Amino acid sequence: MKPVKVGICGLGTVGGGTFNVLKRNAEEIARRAGRGIEVAQIATRQLNPKCDTGSISITDDVFAVASNPEIDIVVELIGGYTLALELVLKAIENGKHVVTANKALIAVHGNEIFARARERGVIVAFEASVAGGIPVIKAIREGLAANRINWLAGIINGTGNFILTEMREKGRAFEDVLKEAQALGYAEADPTFDVEGIDAAHKLTILASIAFGIPLQFDKAYTEGISRLTTADVNYAEALGYRIKHLGVARRTEAGIELRVHPTLIPADRLLANVNGVMNAVMVNGDAVGSTLYYGAGAGMEPTASAVVADLVDVARALTTDPNNRVPHLAFQPDSLSAHPI
Ligand code: HSE
Repeated sequence: MKPVKVGICGLGTVGGGTFNVLKRNAEEIARRAGRGIEVAQIATRQLNPKCDTGSISITDDVFAVASNPEIDIVVELIGGYTLALELVLKAIENGKHVVTANKALIAVHGNEIFARARERGVIVAFEASVAGGIPVIKAIREGLAANRINWLAGIINGTGNFILTEMREKGRAFEDVLKEAQALGYAEADPTFDVEGIDAAHKLTILASIAFGIPLQFDKAYTEGISRLTTADVNYAEALGYRIKHLGVARRTEAGIELRVHPTLIPADRLLANVNGVMNAVMVNGDAVGSTLYYGAGAGMEPTASAVVADLVDVARALTTDPNNRVPHLAFQPDSLSAHPI
């Protein structure tokens, strides 16, 4: 069978990781996908010194990738809302499948994107948008498909958890650890998204949509970050037998689904209290299965690439089967748009 042809837009931390993982594990990936996955073109303003792109076509125009007739799947890794939205909509219009790690884009514009994808009969896959390398979207959508989800709660911003951990374990200053998180490629281009809870709220919005079958309603989430916490707060919590963790929580209430992200005191002996550094963890409670826990690296080059490539494998597999039988990638059914207020 012919390989699936992929165009990668953005060759920064996640784009570079995706390229390298695809190249390094090409044989295993092809076995799992049932066919090869080949990078046909890359759009980037700057080559990544960590990537040996050889003779692959390079352009600085993302729309050249979206319009390239050779390409089956456009991988959007440029981030942000403006150009990324135009790119994704153009790719969909051109009949391309899309894989993205862009949680801001999905949380804010996902309803429109999924509606367009549905009309055009293409897949938009976004596993890497939540919790980096942890396949939590697939776990909820597929692994817990039998369940009525009661609640989910987790640490879903690696940068924030890294900052709180370093403050607690080493007494380091907030700003100093944030700078390190930026240097390590964990933080968002605008780190206020990490420290003000916006990034976690984007991710929670996406998880809730999948878990509860509701539309994406980012503006309804209560959002509070960690920027006002001091080392003294962290130490007092410790002295009282607690840890401060920044949690995202989505749960059913009588009034609808409640979404909130904020710092939380957790008894020090609980599992979530012991998730440290850039690691993320998400607990999901379903009526049949009870509580389940998903843990792993929440940010970084190859952990996030792992989720991007898993989506590429998923799409490649779907393309080999009857389009009507594809695993649905939509977060919700469009006709539920007004039926589930948060
Ligand atoms: N800035 C994000 C985080 C990157 O720290 O979790 C991964 O989504």
